Amino acid sequence: MPAHRFEGKTIFVTGGTSGLGRASCAQFIEEGGEVFIMDLEERSVLQHLGDKLKAHFYQGDVGKPEDCEAAINACVEKLGKLDILFHCAAQLSPMSTVPNHDLALFQQIINTNLCSLFYLARIAIPQMQKQGKGVIVVTGSTSAMAGEHGLPSYSASKAGMINLMRSMAIDHAQDNIRINAICPGYMRTAMTAGLGELAKVVEDSIPQGRGADPEEVARSVLFLASEDASFMTGHAMVVDGGWCAHSGAPDFLKLVPQQFRPDSTT
Ligand SMILES: NC(=O)c1ccc[n+]([C@@H]2O[C@H](COP(=O)([O-])OP(=O)(O)OC[C@H]3O[C@@H](n4cnc5c(N)ncnc54)[C@H](O)[C@@H]3O)[C@@H](O)[C@H]2O)c1
Repeated sequence: MPAHRFEGKTIFVTGGTSGLGRASCAQFIEEGGEVFIMDLEERSVLQHLGDKLKAHFYQGDVGKPEDCEAAINACVEKLGKLDILFHCAAQLSPMSTVPNHDLALFQQIINTNLCSLFYLARIAIPQMQKQGKGVIVVTGSTSAMAGEHGLPSYSASKAGMINLMRSMAIDHAQDNIRINAICPGYMRTAMTAGLGELAKVVEDSIPQGRGADPEEVARSVLFLASEDASFMTGHAMVVDGGWCAHSGAPDFLKLVPQQFRPDSTT
């Protein structure tokens, strides 16, 4: 029996027709919420989301400030308010070092993944101020927590997003607006489908030994969006099967011969 934490709530979700965004929309609806999805593509997702009457779609590009403004205004016009913004849309960059990175592509990744939060928040926050409260959840990544080979634009966009989230969180804490980030580790979604053989290597390097299904990360998104997280703001919550807890050191237990281990009985 699902909880009903989002009964009567209007949730604006970017990137809601695939992966984590889609899984979160399904759970928001299951818990009584009404979702307004902004995405590049509809992908007939509304057919698959539980109560179809509680899902609305707006085609738009989060990298365009005018689309962000129009989409949020359309949400407020249609549903009368905006209680929660979940910004999930993003683009993964191709693997590259900085000297080899296409300049226009670098600017596009920063624009789509980082500037989009600015475009959305500058419209959403005044609406939430008018309503007297609100919640924003942004989507960072474990790629924001440390450098990762071959992902300079993506890592920078996600790290920048986290500090933008923190700045807004402290500026608007007294407006009764909570702003946090979910930082997933590797998830099995369309975004990572192209990894091929590499997927197994990545999964093996995660302490829990596997990637996440988007549904289990979505449960943490809903936690941050709900009143269960009422005293949390400015926080980047990692959901990664232990990936960030690992220093990168080799597994000493496998490398050190048994006779040299203090717990050895021989
Ligand atoms: N998959 C992973 O391993 C992983 C890991 C860490 C963080 N993340 C983050 O999680 C979020 C969701 O990723 P996912 O794996 O579900 O990816 P996904 O590709 O399944 O979904 C991304 C969605 O965003 C939409 N989108 C992309 N660019 C857009 C734009 N300019 N305007 C509007 N919509 C746009 C896509 O159409 C798609 O529906 C992203 O922010 C991603 O960076 C993913």
